[in-house]
Amino acid sequence: MIAIFDSGYGGLTVLKPIMELLPEYDYLYLGDNARAPYGNHSKENIKKFSEEAVEYLFKQGATLIIFACNTASAVALRSIQEKYLKGKNEKDRKILGVLIPVAEEVVKVTKTKKVAIVGTKATINSKSYDEEIKKLDPSIKITSASCPLLVPFIEEGWHKKPEAISVLKKYLRSLKTHNPDTLILGCTHYPLMGKNFKRIMGKQTKVLSSGKIVAKSLKDYLARHPEIESKLSKKGKRKFLTTDDPDKFKKFTQKNFGMKIQATPIQLSREVCL
Ligand code: DGL
Repeated sequence: MIAIFDSGYGGLTVLKPIMELLPEYDYLYLGDNARAPYGNHSKENIKKFSEEAVEYLFKQGATLIIFACNTASAVALRSIQEKYLKGKNEKDRKILGVLIPVAEEVVKVTKTKKVAIVGTKATINSKSYDEEIKKLDPSIKITSASCPLLVPFIEEGWHKKPEAISVLKKYLRSLKTHNPDTLILGCTHYPLMGKNFKRIMGKQTKVLSSGKIVAKSLKDYLARHPEIESKLSKKGKRKFLTTDDPDKFKKFTQKNFGMKIQATPIQLSREVCL
């Protein structure tokens, strides 16, 4: 089965296009809502939370885990891949993130080579997007901004309110002065404010969200890796797990994604992280 991991609800913006493009596979979604948002946590805690999620998902029988969460992809993915995929496990299971597919797309679409990135504090401070883009094209100029107030607005269902739009305008003001032709929405939640990002940035800026890009890249990946693809179950099953209130998860999913689902509560850790 394919597992999609996120800090909470946001990964549904990645799961949805994946399920639309590749409906035949079984999907297990895990949202660590109890500890979200990850974006304001320390690197150590983000790594610890992500490791707990990975161990849990492998125990549930996942062959392929997608880190839909930009923060986990930026901060924890590399060390987790090294820890969990070495040696005998290398050919049997895989963990993929969202940064590389998005970086590959950016390099294809930018014409002026001026790119902007928005994301959580942890994602922006990690500079992981910058690194992946520069590996592909060192001449690209990157400006970035963290937008920590947007996730709470979105989770509260307040993202269409004037207060949220005015905060967004403030976040984008300095980025706009660099005239990027491409803006990466480097956070799972931001596509829910995608129209406002587009409107504020203006027609000259293409706004990229990871969902469709990751879905297409996953399709290509599976075609190139039959050793993983052949292990994936294909009964079209979908299961949703949350570390917080399943009813709240169900309502958010229905309201924002039009998906009627059942969510199962799970616990990843009893430890309190200070
Ligand atoms: N899922 C996170 C991301 O894409 C956003 C929410 C959070 O901070 O946990 O970075």
